[in-house]
Amino acid sequence: MIGGRRETGFSKRDGGGGGQSFCRSRIAAAIFVGIFLGGVFAFFYPDGFFVSSPSVHHSVANSDSEVITSSCASSERINMLKSEFIAASEKNARFKMQIRELTEKLQLAEQRKDNAQKQVLVLGEQQKAGPFGTVKGSRTNPTVVPDESVNPRLAKILEKVAVNRELIVTLANSNVKDMLELWFTNIKRVGIPNYLVFALDEEIASFCQSKDVPVYKRDNDEVKRDQDKNFESIARTGGNHAVSGLKFRILREFLQLGYSVLLSDVDIIYLKNPFNHLYRDSDVESMTDGHNNMTAYGYDDVFDEPTMGWARYAHTMRLWVYNSGFFYIRPTIPSIELLDRVAGRLARENAWDQAVFNEELFFPSYPGYEGLHASRRTMDYYLFMNSKVLFKTVRKDSQLSKLKPVIIHLNYHPDKFPRMKAVVDYYVNGKQDALSPFPDGSDW
Ligand SMILES: *[C@@H]1O[C@H](CO)[C@@H](O)[C@H](O)[C@H]1NC(C)=O
Repeated sequence: MIGGRRETGFSKRDGGGGGQSFCRSRIAAAIFVGIFLGGVFAFFYPDGFFVSSPSVHHSVANSDSEVITSSCASSERINMLKSEFIAASEKNARFKMQIRELTEKLQLAEQRKDNAQKQVLVLGEQQKAGPFGTVKGSRTNPTVVPDESVNPRLAKILEKVAVNRELIVTLANSNVKDMLELWFTNIKRVGIPNYLVFALDEEIASFCQSKDVPVYKRDNDEVKRDQDKNFESIARTGGNHAVSGLKFRILREFLQLGYSVLLSDVDIIYLKNPFNHLYRDSDVESMTDGHNNMTAYGYDDVFDEPTMGWARYAHTMRLWVYNSGFFYIRPTIPSIELLDRVAGRLARENAWDQAVFNEELFFPSYPGYEGLHASRRTMDYYLFMNSKVLFKTVRKDSQLSKLKPVIIHLNYHPDKFPRMKAVVDYYVNGKQDALSPFPDGSDW
């Protein structure tokens, strides 16, 4: 599957220039002839010349003992045969070497061309490195050219709703109606104008309209254009994980239209305007499932294997996953590639969307796999707070409990709705003991 993806990537687009392909076909022909000759040699001399020479010697020696007395002419012939064999086997070895060299050269040339093309795409122009300490790579990729034709109706809505070409987007069906109401009530209270509910069924669409909440629902033509038979049924009846898979598909259109999206689950309470707390320097800026500096921002996890003695300690790079229920994504090529990769895998595999999201974001390239290499930023876990941080640490800490986060995501707890209401009571209504009744984790 990964190989297939590579094929449709850079390597397929390479095959353009006629001169190039002529040159390549000559190299290919040379390799083919070489391999063919090698095959012929391998067929007639399966053990190879060098291996078979001793047995030649042996049989020659045998015939020697029978023939040597009869004439010295025959020993001359034997010597001649020997040198012919040696010459032939040397030729064979040279052939093999040449094939190997040619193959390596071809591979190298392909790699270089691939890399050169990628560099041109990314950098545009070559530049000299500045002095020590002044060099900084780019993590802020250029945004795509907006393409309204992908969804003109959505484009119109976004023109009205978005501020500075960015907005909050959530997906909802009637299974989460109560949480959705709490979600947009707090967004309105904070005074955030740029948000949109992507309604997955008619009930949610009319509910939002009745509450004066910006809403978009696909009409039948748009669904048909999507050519996905499953979309409607997942949208209407899907549980949490199934709906989560849809969002990567839906997000693509927003990005193609040129908008940055702050993707949000509904089990989130907004306490401040998040757009005042973003860096906007990376393809993906995400809240974390981590709960302290190490787990949120990365650490060296040392693995101990005493039997290795001197080298018993293996160092590993660790990071708690990004939360795919709250992330800011800029409309760049790597971002859209990320959405495509995640949506593609979720369509083929029965996988958890958050796991797939993180794998695509973090695994580097390796033999047989081309990594995504989108740029990433981890959000401050005290500002964009998960419910583990809140209930395990913050509510018990006299300093931290006084600070107001930007959002709180009830991601770590199944009793989302009562905890959401408690968060509002604590941070908005000033009820000091509102969080106390709840245990740190769920009781199962
Ligand atoms: C955790 O990270 C933040 C941000 O880098 C830093 O300001 C803070 O001092 C760190 N805290 C600890 C305990 O290391």
